[in-house]
Amino acid sequence: MDMIQLLKEDHQRVKTNLEQIINRFDREMMMQCARELQLHMRLEESILYPEMQKRQETRHLIDESYGEHQEVKDILERVSTMQDEQRCVSELKTLLKEINHHVTEEENELFPQVQQLLPPNEIEHMTRQVMQMREREMAEQRF
Ligand SMILES: [Fe+2]
Ligand SMILES: [Fe+2]
Repeated sequence: MDMIQLLKEDHQRVKTNLEQIINRFDREMMMQCARELQLHMRLEESILYPEMQKRQETRHLIDESYGEHQEVKDILERVSTMQDEQRCVSELKTLLKEINHHVTEEENELFPQVQQLLPPNEIEHMTRQVMQMREREMAEQRF
């Protein structure tokens, strides 16, 4: 299992969970999903993005990705204090659209470039970093 597969699994899980929460609203599940999503973005921003931002071929994708992550973070911030359920659900629908767009870009454009540009040992090294950081953060946040 390498970093790309791990990140793709996260994408799938977050999308499935979000769809479920939109269909049947559950605040606990929403907060749990938000924590997973925040962790996923922190992993990408601390391990994968800096490396790919150095490379001319992927710099524009990464610049765009930081902006898309920020939009996701803004929505998560808003729903975390939002009392009205219907407004929450409508924000989550926007969130799902943003995520679908962002994830498609990562999986179809960024990840293939990662596999093409980075030597296998570097991907292996990053995979270990992703796994370690996830374990550490999950222990700290008591997921
Ligand atoms: Fe991302
Ligand atoms: Fe991602």
